[in-house]
Amino acid sequence: MSELKTKALSTAHRDLMEAVSFLKNGHLVAFPTETVYGLGGDARNNSAAARIFTAKNRPSFNPLIVHTTSIKEAVRYAYFNDVAKCLAMAFWPGALTLVLPLRPKHGLSAIVTSHLPSVGIRVPSHPIAQSLLAKFDGPIAAPSANHSGKISSTTAEHVLNDLSGKIAAVIDGKACTIGIESTIVQCDNSQTVILRPGGISKNTIETVLQRKLTHFSSPETISSPGQLRSHYAPCAGLRLNVYSAQKYESHLGFAKINGNLNLSRNGCLKEAANNLFAYLHELDALRRPIAVAPIPKIGIGIAINDRLTRAATPAQ
Ligand code: TXA
Ligand code: MG
Repeated sequence: MSELKTKALSTAHRDLMEAVSFLKNGHLVAFPTETVYGLGGDARNNSAAARIFTAKNRPSFNPLIVHTTSIKEAVRYAYFNDVAKCLAMAFWPGALTLVLPLRPKHGLSAIVTSHLPSVGIRVPSHPIAQSLLAKFDGPIAAPSANHSGKISSTTAEHVLNDLSGKIAAVIDGKACTIGIESTIVQCDNSQTVILRPGGISKNTIETVLQRKLTHFSSPETISSPGQLRSHYAPCAGLRLNVYSAQKYESHLGFAKINGNLNLSRNGCLKEAANNLFAYLHELDALRRPIAVAPIPKIGIGIAINDRLTRAATPAQ
C-alpha cells in the first residue's frame, strides 16, 4: 500500500467537514471518543471497511464496532430486546457497546461485521464524535486507532505515532476522558453476557438490570473474536503485581507504590484507567520491560486488570 500523508485536523467546523468528505470517499479518519480514539470509516462501504483492516493489520475475523448518533439510528441495523433497550436507555450516549442480532437489509458492510449474524453498536457521548456522526449522517465503523494487538490511543499524538501514513486524517480532540474502551455486552434472546469489561463497570450494569451477569472471559471459547489473549502489548514485555521493580524495568505505580509513573497516587481507579494507555505509551517508548503495581480488581479496576493481563501475555 502506498503511504498517505496523514492530515492533522482540528475540531473547527471546516476541518470536521473535511473529515466528512474523506469518510464519504471511503477514506479513514481517526477521531476522539470518550473511551479511546477510533479509526473511522463508512460502515456501509466495503472498501472503507477493508482499509480499516489493512491499516490496523487486523485479522478479518475480528468485527468492528459501528458508531451511530442515536438509539433511533441504531435500531435500523439491529434487533433490541427488552434488556438491550433498557441498557441503551441507561448508558447511551456512553461507554457501552451492545452486540445485537443484525436486521435483514441493515445495509452495513459484511466486512465490518466479519460476516457474523450480529453487530457491535455504540452511541458515543464525545461531542466531536457526535458532531462528526451528525455531519456524516451515517454509521461509522471504528475500532480503536492502533495497530492490532498494540496499545490503544488516547490522544491524537498516539494515533499519529502508530498510524501516520496509513490513514487520511486524525481529528485532534485532546485526551479521551475515560481512557479505556467501552464495556461490551451481548444481548440476544438466549443470553445477556459481558464480553469485555470496560468504561462502565459490571456492578453499574447489574444495578440497572437488577440482576447478576456472567462475565465471559474464557479465551478458549472466544465469542468476542477480538478478545484475543495477547493484546495491548508493549514492545519490551510487561509483568503484573510488582511491588518493587528490577533495575532494568520501568515501574508503573499505583497508590502508595510509587513507581517511575504513578497511575493514581490517591488510589483512584477512574484516574488510573484514564492514565493507563498514555503511561503505557510513555514507558513503552523507553524500550524497557514494564513492571506494574497491583491494581484492585473492583469497579473499573476489572477493566484495567483485563487490559494489563492481555498486555502481559506474549503474542503467539
Ligand atoms: O470504546 C471502544 O469500544 C472503542 C471506541 C473507538 O469505540 N472501540 C474499540 O474497538 O475498542 P475495538 O475494535 O478495538 O474492539 C471492539 C471489540 C473487539 O473485541 C471485537 O471482537 C468486538 O468488539 N466485537 C465487535 N463486534 C462484535 C460482534 N458482532 N460479536 C462479538 N464481538 C464483537
Ligand atoms: Mg482495540
